[in-house]
Amino acid sequence: MTATASKTLDRVLVLEMVRVTEAAAIAASTLTGRGDEKAADAAAVDAMRTALNSLYMDGTVVIGEGERDEAPMLFIGEKVGSAIGKGPKIDIALDPLEGTTICATAGPNALAVLAIAEEGGLLNAPDVYMDKIAVGPGYPEGIIDLDKSPTENVTALAAAKGVKPSDIIACVLDRPRHAKIIAELRAIGCGIMLIGDGDVAGVIATTNPDTTIDIYMGSGGAPEGVLACAALRCVGGQFKGRLLFRNDDERARAAKWGVTDLDKQYDLTELARGDCIFAATGVTDGSLLAGVKRKGTIMTTESVVMRASSGTVRWVKGEHRI
Ligand code: FBP
Repeated sequence: MTATASKTLDRVLVLEMVRVTEAAAIAASTLTGRGDEKAADAAAVDAMRTALNSLYMDGTVVIGEGERDEAPMLFIGEKVGSAIGKGPKIDIALDPLEGTTICATAGPNALAVLAIAEEGGLLNAPDVYMDKIAVGPGYPEGIIDLDKSPTENVTALAAAKGVKPSDIIACVLDRPRHAKIIAELRAIGCGIMLIGDGDVAGVIATTNPDTTIDIYMGSGGAPEGVLACAALRCVGGQFKGRLLFRNDDERARAAKWGVTDLDKQYDLTELARGDCIFAATGVTDGSLLAGVKRKGTIMTTESVVMRASSGTVRWVKGEHRI
């Protein structure tokens, strides 16, 4: 891995991050399958905030639950940690419940997710859509490009992999806006795994051969794009993202957070720079992690925490007495 280890991201914080995502996942899990997205999200947010506030750091939420006027907790710019003004300055991107609908309907791949970096390390992505394309590690640099068609990207990937385009499997969010991409991929015989929600897991799935997913394509939340990039920085892979704006209000939001070139195609390292840590805990079972399970008075969790500078990936199984 290419990133230099950051002294600010103390090694202790690596494991502390798991505590934070575990707390959010456990809280959300009590509402899995209850049909109440808002309640599940609120429980996860509350638990994640409490856990973050117990850590010795001067943290700033750079990607969170929304802007101050729309999110009471973990809003963009909110300070978290027990050492504000004196501890290490950490930027935090978080999604206490990635896949609120998944959790409410007990579907696959709901996660509690967090990424941290040194100040300025994560793009302050506004809450708009992002066009995304991602592949796992081991391919020539620049093999994917948002300015190329789905056919061109899949054909280049297939050639690099030494297979036919019809052997490639793409993961795409099942949305009407993706009808054109889906039709084009079907026309070249490409397999498509359509997912209902949860594109952080969808992007990360490209890095795990067990999922059989080769490429991720389509638009989803920009904050989720930055979170997925932090994970790819740790395990390898390529990602391109471009912010998508539906109206002037969204363009103004981007400008407010310092985005000057609205049409820019961002590379992985422009979305998550330098050393960073990514942590996730499964809320429901999925391709990356098992979900929270309750067995009597014990709740079990499965988490992963990774660091860009070392490339270390730790799988953490937790047992929590309740
Ligand atoms: P939430 O957890 O905020 O519901 O996000 C779920 C999700 O599927 C993301 O993974 C994805 O980036 C985004 O929604 C896609 O947005 P939309 O549902 O508007 O297509």
